[in-house]
Amino acid sequence: MADKRTAKLTLDDGREIVLPVFEGTEQECAVDVSSLRKETGYITYDNGFVNTGSCQSTITFVDGEKGILRYRGYPIEELAENCRFVEVAYLLVYGALPTREELDNFSAQLTERANIHEDMKHFFTGFPVAAHPMAILSSMVTSLSSYYPTSGDEEWNFDDTVARLIAKVRTIAAYSYRKATGEPFVYPRGDLSYCENFLNMMFSGEGKNYEISDKALRALDKVLILHADHEQNCSTSAVRLVGSSRAPLYASIGAGISALWGPLHGGASQAAVEMLMAINEDGGDCGKYIAMAKDKDDPFRLMGFGHRVYKNYDPRARILKQSCDEILDELNIDDPLLSIAKSLEKVALEDEYFVSRNLYPNVDFYAGIIYRALGIPVNMFTVMFTLGRLPGWIAQWYESTQDPDWRIWRPRQVYQGETSRAFIPIDRR
Ligand code: ACO
Repeated sequence: MADKRTAKLTLDDGREIVLPVFEGTEQECAVDVSSLRKETGYITYDNGFVNTGSCQSTITFVDGEKGILRYRGYPIEELAENCRFVEVAYLLVYGALPTREELDNFSAQLTERANIHEDMKHFFTGFPVAAHPMAILSSMVTSLSSYYPTSGDEEWNFDDTVARLIAKVRTIAAYSYRKATGEPFVYPRGDLSYCENFLNMMFSGEGKNYEISDKALRALDKVLILHADHEQNCSTSAVRLVGSSRAPLYASIGAGISALWGPLHGGASQAAVEMLMAINEDGGDCGKYIAMAKDKDDPFRLMGFGHRVYKNYDPRARILKQSCDEILDELNIDDPLLSIAKSLEKVALEDEYFVSRNLYPNVDFYAGIIYRALGIPVNMFTVMFTLGRLPGWIAQWYESTQDPDWRIWRPRQVYQGETSRAFIPIDRR
C-alpha cells in the first residue's frame, strides 16, 4: 500500500528514520510506524488513539470536519431515505446493495433463524427482574457460541452465522424487555419482516390489540440504519481487538456490546434522555445545565453532545432531528423533551464554550426521542443501538479476518512504575 512518499523523524540523539507514507481512497494520509520500535527502540504514544489508524478498511468513511458519513460509498442520507434496515445490513456485511432476489434470500435466512434455542429461554429465569438489558444481551450473545458452531469449528459457516446473529440478537433483545415486564415471550413469526417482528415480540400479546403501524416501522428502520456502522469507534475496536486473538465472532460481538454500554459511547442515548427528563422536571431551565456542563469542577457533561471525530454537525443527528418532527407528527405525539432538546441545542450552539470546542449534537441526542415515540423504555435505548450496530460489527470483524496481514492486536505502553527493588519478606514489611 505504501506510495513513494515518506516521512522523516529525527530523534533527540540525532538519528533519523524514514517512514513510509500511504494514502486512502479519500486522500487521508498515514505514516506507517510499524518498523519504528524495531529500528529505533522508540514507540509512539497516542492517548485515546486520537491519531492512530488501527487498520485499513473498505466499509465506512467518515469525514468529521465536513460532517460526511458513507457506508460502502453510499451517503448515509440516501440510505436512510430509501432503504430498509435489512438492506443496509446486507450492504455492510457483503459490500454491495442486494438485488431483489438477494434481499429476499437474506430476509428468509433471518426468518429461519429467528428463534433462540429453547434451552436459552431458561437463562432469563436466572436474571433478576431489574437486570439491565445490556447485561442480559452481552452475556447471552457470547453464550450463543455454546449452542451454534463458532468460527474455529469445522462446520462453521459465515453466512449462517451472520443471519443467526442478526435474527437472534433481536429476539434476545425483545425477550429481555418481556422479562423486565414479567410478560410471556412472544415468538418470532415467519410472516413478519425483521422490524415488524421486533415490534411484535416487544409489544403484542394476549389481550393486547397491538397493531404495527407503517410509520413506526419506517422510523425504526431509519434509526437502525443510522446506527449501523461508524468505522473504528470504541465498540467496533473492541470487536476487532477481541477477534484479533482468533476469538469466535459471538464472543467478539459480546465484547462490542459491553463496550457500547458505557455512557460516553452508546449508553449516551439513555443518558441524554435522562438528562432531558431531568431538565423537564426542573422546569425546563436549559441555562442551568449548560452552566453545569461548562463548569470544570462539575463532572456533568451535556450527554449526546460532542464527538471524537465529528468537529461539525453529526450527519446522523441532523437526520434524526428532522425525523423527530416528522415521526412525532405522524404518530400524533407531543413530547415535551423534543422542545427541550431543541432549546438546549440552540443555547449550546450559541455559547462560546461549545463553539470553540466544536461540540455539536451527536447521534445519541435525538435518537431517544424517537425510541420514546415507539414506546421503547429508556433502559432499552442502548439495546436498540446494539441492534443497529450489529451488521457493522460483523462486517468489521469479517474484514479483519480476511486481511492477509492479520495479526493479534497488542499495544505497547510507557511504563511509569517502580524500577527494580529488593523483595521484602512478609514479617519485615
Ligand atoms: N459537554 C461538555 N463539555 C464537553 C462535552 C460535553 N458533552 N464533550 C466534550 N467536552 C469538552 C471537554 O471537557 C474538553 O474540554 P477542554 O478542552 O476544556 O478540556 C473538550 O470538549 C474536548 O473533549 P474530550 O473529552 O477531549 O473529547 P473526546 O474526543 O475525548 O470525547 C466524547 C468525545 C466522549 C464523545 C465527549 O464529547 C463526551 O463525553 N460526550 C458526552 C457523551 C456522549 O454523548 N457520547 C456519545 C458519543 S457518540 C457515540 O459514541 C455513538
